[in-house]
Amino acid sequence: MIKMKKIAVLTSGGDAPGMNAAIRAIVRTSLNNKIDIIGFRNGYEGLIDNDFVVFDRRLVGNIIQRGGSILHTSRSSRFVNKKYRMIAENNLRSHKVDGLIIIGGEGSTKGAIALSKISKTRCVVVPATIDKDMALVGSSIGFDTAINTALTAIDKIRDTATTANVTHIVEVMGRNCGWLGILAGIGAGAEVTIIPEVKTNITKLAQKIKHQLNRGKKGCIIILAEGGFSKGGASLAGALKEKGNFDLRITTLGHMQRGGNPSAVDRVLATELGVNAILALKDGFSNVIIAKPVDTIKKVEFDKVVNAKVNVDMYLHDLIENTA
Ligand code: F6P
Repeated sequence: MIKMKKIAVLTSGGDAPGMNAAIRAIVRTSLNNKIDIIGFRNGYEGLIDNDFVVFDRRLVGNIIQRGGSILHTSRSSRFVNKKYRMIAENNLRSHKVDGLIIIGGEGSTKGAIALSKISKTRCVVVPATIDKDMALVGSSIGFDTAINTALTAIDKIRDTATTANVTHIVEVMGRNCGWLGILAGIGAGAEVTIIPEVKTNITKLAQKIKHQLNRGKKGCIIILAEGGFSKGGASLAGALKEKGNFDLRITTLGHMQRGGNPSAVDRVLATELGVNAILALKDGFSNVIIAKPVDTIKKVEFDKVVNAKVNVDMYLHDLIENTA
């Protein structure tokens, strides 16, 4: 166990719903452990500019349900430059910060790695990105909400698609990772999902759509994940039209996928990861991502289930009061 007096937190990169829930859990757990906590605004930019807020319990009241981040975020181009990382390090030292928590995605983790080369401050990352594009860490804060947001929109598109007999291409985000596209595709019952990890054969795609329409479908939904087709939805529509007489419409869901109230899944994940970020720093961990990898499918025998007691997770139960 490490004696910690002060911790700093920041949110970085593309914002993700649930970042506020993570800030809340981090601040409350820190203060419960008698560790002072400050927040840097605008991600690494605030670390460079020494733009900070001293947290108390009330400052994180009534934010668990809010999208975005009360600390704001940025994609800091200055932080790539060692000169600015040194300034950031000096600011951390001047505040006598013992541990830094970065809430963000893959780019933010790269920033943390670069900082760790010149800094002795213990540093942990809480994964938050709608893209779920961080290897080995399971889901990330914001991913579940983004799927739900996409599904709400796609369900509406389905209504008009099947009424008007039109096929729709719906573009979802994900940077260069297909997770958001896959889950939106499954959840929406899409006919096709195109992701960057799989090269698209336009002839086969056109055949698939024709096949579905010939089967009596009134319109198809094609989910196009970001990076799945070189120049996006319009070029995909153009390529498909060369293969058949398709009536096509394109919707780009865009940044609406980053907003909105976090889902239950994201609020709980953010709380668990936030609490554990503080505990990890106290336990002396540094240069780690606080992760909760997803469980896989299991086969559970009937007779093992029928008379077995259901155990609620008392650890999660206790988190309620510990972050109140
Ligand atoms: O990483 C989150 C994300 O929304 C990606 O899905 C997308 O590629 C990117 O950020 C968009 O970034 P920006 O808002 O900076 O254009």
